[in-house]
Amino acid sequence: MRDLIVVSQNQRFINDIKHIASEYSFETHIMHEMDSLVDNPLEENYFKVGIIDGTLTSAKNELGGIIQVARMVFDMEFLILVVPKRVEQAIAEEVKKYGANYILLDSELETAKVDFILSQVIRCAFIPIKAEDLVVDTRLTFDIYHLIAHKGRFLPITAFFKDLTEKRLEKIRAVNEIYIHRRDLKAYGDYLAKNEGNEVRLARAKFLSLNDSYIELVQLLTDQGEFSSFEKGKKLLERCRQFCGELLFHLKQVKDPTLIINNSAIGDFGSVERSPAIACYAGVIGLDYGLNEEKTIDLMVCCLLSDIGLLTIPRGSAIKLKHDLKLNSEEFREYCRHPLVSVELALSRKLPLEERIREYIHQTHEQADAKGFPYQLVGDRLKFEPQLIRFLWGLDKASQIKLNTSRPDFQRIRRRFLKQAQDSKTFNSGFLISLEGAMKRAGLIHRETERDID
Ligand SMILES: [Fe+2]
Repeated sequence: MRDLIVVSQNQRFINDIKHIASEYSFETHIMHEMDSLVDNPLEENYFKVGIIDGTLTSAKNELGGIIQVARMVFDMEFLILVVPKRVEQAIAEEVKKYGANYILLDSELETAKVDFILSQVIRCAFIPIKAEDLVVDTRLTFDIYHLIAHKGRFLPITAFFKDLTEKRLEKIRAVNEIYIHRRDLKAYGDYLAKNEGNEVRLARAKFLSLNDSYIELVQLLTDQGEFSSFEKGKKLLERCRQFCGELLFHLKQVKDPTLIINNSAIGDFGSVERSPAIACYAGVIGLDYGLNEEKTIDLMVCCLLSDIGLLTIPRGSAIKLKHDLKLNSEEFREYCRHPLVSVELALSRKLPLEERIREYIHQTHEQADAKGFPYQLVGDRLKFEPQLIRFLWGLDKASQIKLNTSRPDFQRIRRRFLKQAQDSKTFNSGFLISLEGAMKRAGLIHRETERDID
């Protein structure tokens, strides 16, 4: 199984993809044409993602045919069609019908959008799960994998059995890290929900469902082949709200979001992919701040939407941001627009966002010292919700679990991060007082260890 197959006759196009592939060490196969493969198929023709260049295809109605051939000659989990400019709805529907999953503009090859899609489909194709969430004497409706580290491949442990006896479960427990395939997320969530037992397990199931609909939300907002209607936008937003609400219900019992988030981590810390994790934190703190359930769900939805605009910035800027490197002035100017772009994207795809939600998203990078962006609002005008979102992005990044290290002390990380926030001029004093109170009530920082800050 290889990561990427690219079909293009355009050397510039190929170079662009090669550049991305080398950055993430994707195993890539390049072909200039695929018609000859109909009679002489590749020996190894299974790829996680196919990127098909449709930029040189003069007749738009040929695009459907290209996708059909691609689906015939390659076995792919996800197929991206790249076109020179936005195609009409009828063409988009046709290529989707023939098997394209996502339509991208040629000009977007340079944006962080490509990284997001490839990361979700290739790097996060397998999702870590916990052995203690599996229940003896149940039947699995999905496969469980383990990672052969030196080969970088995932192999199914459950290839020959589906009924979980005590003995088999013990064997699975003995494997250090276990995974499921992303396509089985729903089956896994249903399994967890069916085999109730403890709140942490149920909350994790809801968190995974939220992650799944988040990806769908991102696709709806960024796919150039999506022609959303008010109906579709409303439905998707309702579904996200429903999953946020269900997650919130279980979070109330669990309280410690790190039990849910870090064990179900999907995506790179510090990247847009962490949005559902931020929503999870926001749910707990929002309730303890005193927001009612509906307003807490609003806040969680803001967390999902607030950084989608970052997918439109150049990939170079996104990589710098991930590694905390300085942006040049032009990159920074563009970056400063992302809260506005997030709202623009949501509205352009007909997501019915209330005025206050738009305002929260716009304010997620404003600062108490009026040095934020995009409007440089003064501190006392900032609302609690956007300041909390900003705080949580930083906290989540600071809570990153590094490979091969012992589990971090989350209490200490939170206390240290709160102290840093109190010492900075980023947040207004009203927010900081409310935040500290809410974090204490939620048990995210313990009263008795307040002094234990290093
Ligand atoms: Fe942001």
